[in-house]
Amino acid sequence: MCGIVSYTGKRSARQALIDGLKRIEYRGYDSAGIATHEKDTLQVIRKPGRIEVLAEEVDKVEPEGTLGIAHTRWATHGEVTEANAHPHLSNNGKFALVHNGIIENYVTIKKFLESEGYTFSSETDSEVLVNLISYHYDKEPKNDKNNRFCESIRKSLLHVEGTYGIVVICDDYPNDLVGARKSSPLILGIGKDEKILASDVSAFVKRTQDVVYLRDGEIIHVTEDDFSITTVTQKDVTAVIEKIEWKAEDAELGSFKHFMEKEIFEQPTALENAMRGHFSEDATTAIFGGLNMSAQELRQVDRIIFCACGTAWHACLTAEYLIERYARIPVEVEYASEFRYRNAPLDKNTLVFVVSQSGETLDTLAALRESQRKGYRTLAINNVVGSTIARESDGGIYQHAGPEIGVASTKAFTSQLVIVAMLALYLGRMRDMSLGDGSQFVNALKQLPEQVHQILEKSHYIQEIAQKYAHHEDFLFLGRQILFPIALEGALKLKEISYIHAEGYPAAELKHGPIALISPKCPSVFLTNQESIFNKTLANMQEVKARKGEILAIAAAGRIFPEGLVDDLIIVPPAHAALQPILATIPVQLLSYYIAVERGCDVDKPRNLAKSVTVE
Ligand code: AGP
Ligand code: GLU
Repeated sequence: MCGIVSYTGKRSARQALIDGLKRIEYRGYDSAGIATHEKDTLQVIRKPGRIEVLAEEVDKVEPEGTLGIAHTRWATHGEVTEANAHPHLSNNGKFALVHNGIIENYVTIKKFLESEGYTFSSETDSEVLVNLISYHYDKEPKNDKNNRFCESIRKSLLHVEGTYGIVVICDDYPNDLVGARKSSPLILGIGKDEKILASDVSAFVKRTQDVVYLRDGEIIHVTEDDFSITTVTQKDVTAVIEKIEWKAEDAELGSFKHFMEKEIFEQPTALENAMRGHFSEDATTAIFGGLNMSAQELRQVDRIIFCACGTAWHACLTAEYLIERYARIPVEVEYASEFRYRNAPLDKNTLVFVVSQSGETLDTLAALRESQRKGYRTLAINNVVGSTIARESDGGIYQHAGPEIGVASTKAFTSQLVIVAMLALYLGRMRDMSLGDGSQFVNALKQLPEQVHQILEKSHYIQEIAQKYAHHEDFLFLGRQILFPIALEGALKLKEISYIHAEGYPAAELKHGPIALISPKCPSVFLTNQESIFNKTLANMQEVKARKGEILAIAAAGRIFPEGLVDDLIIVPPAHAALQPILATIPVQLLSYYIAVERGCDVDKPRNLAKSVTVE
């Protein structure tokens, strides 16, 4: 949660900070603020509300300083007010700090600081940390200037329990940023005559593509023309400068109204990118060298656990259906937040897969670390190159979907779906799947981007349907077997961005309870499979119709429905069974998007949500 940007260089810090904040606003957007070093003092401007509100305020002041920090908040401790917004100043005004995460023992530290005469003007856990740094600074020997700033932060962090990404500035050091991280991302961008330390590469991708990823327990000291990294335990770290593959245009709206819309329409390309380089030369199977496991090792796997949160968890549920069906390996799917505390018994041939768009979701990261602690091989499916999960897993698959800015995940989800389908093919071909079935599977995958494109071409038609249904306050999404996870995803998309109450169920579960909701006021979106199960789904639809429920069906071309059963129909191209979830996803994404637009919702920044959940 929350975005951090900080700047040191030769140009205006305020401009770089506001520009950076706008690019990472999706990480949290309840309030924002900046602190810059202006004529030997630190000046802070903070505002509840969106970055625009802050930007207007900042525009009123002449930009001068070339050092500063900025923050866009997703509140955990204390309401959304100016006083609780970051940056926080120490009592003496010497330090300013931005913080992402939660200081779990802040009450104890606060009591100690109060006993030392410190006072607090916010309800946040973060303000405690900036004063703790100030306390240690006063205690440090005054002769070693550089060391004194870093040392006060290092000593403070030794007392902190919880998670943090922080950047601190001090009025004694007009060019220096000091940052540190524990479970919240922090990345240094190295530009020409400037450096940006931020929680997300989007904040500076326009300025540079040279980056250094900070690891947990590291402290970075950055000046305009140099930087050094040490650990909280005082070890020196050799930094590795890497290149990021995203370009500035990837994170810009172009001709689209919203990032969600742009990202829905980018899906044919995102799918192509996810598949690129992963077909065998003879086009009969998939290949995933990044798993760092030989065919022999993979043959020995007799159980796979998939862990994730939210939309990525829905991709894992699809993986369960696909891998069990095509590779005959038992799969279990776990909410990462539950798995990490459950102490589940795992046997020695179990493989743990975590799935995360951002690669920073704290619960998913914790599930990965818990599995590693127990000695299991952990693999990741992840979109953000260089993310913490990507770096800490034993191997994995990058999605290459490009930056996903819209808070509601769309292209990252379908790219996860195509990867798990290819994984099922890969593992299946090592077991019982024949060469012929493998090559049929590969052919189907190759047609997928074009099929998705065909559905996107019907967007106006789907928009008309969305306008017709937009006034409803309750929806059911129903699907069976491999389309059940898509029913869950459809319901999640709709509730996230339009605040409509929506639930996803396996269609046959309807009669075990949810059928009580059916009325002319609660439409049902049915995702219909192409296989033998189609007739069973028809029976579930009849149950809804008999209770005067409206039905919107998504079906493959060629499906025939009894007269009068379906109120609206969205047709998708027929596809290989393993790829039906991807084709069914596109209409539910468009439906949710257009309903939210029709209701005037802020699609890219839905209330109460943030893109990357780096707190528990
Ligand atoms: C997606 O629409 C959601 N905003 C959310 O459920 C998200 O999928 C979840 O927080 C997991 O994020 P990750 O993939 O970055 O780990
Ligand atoms: N815990 C801090 C607060 O509530 C930081 C929240 C964030 O990560 O935005 O202010």
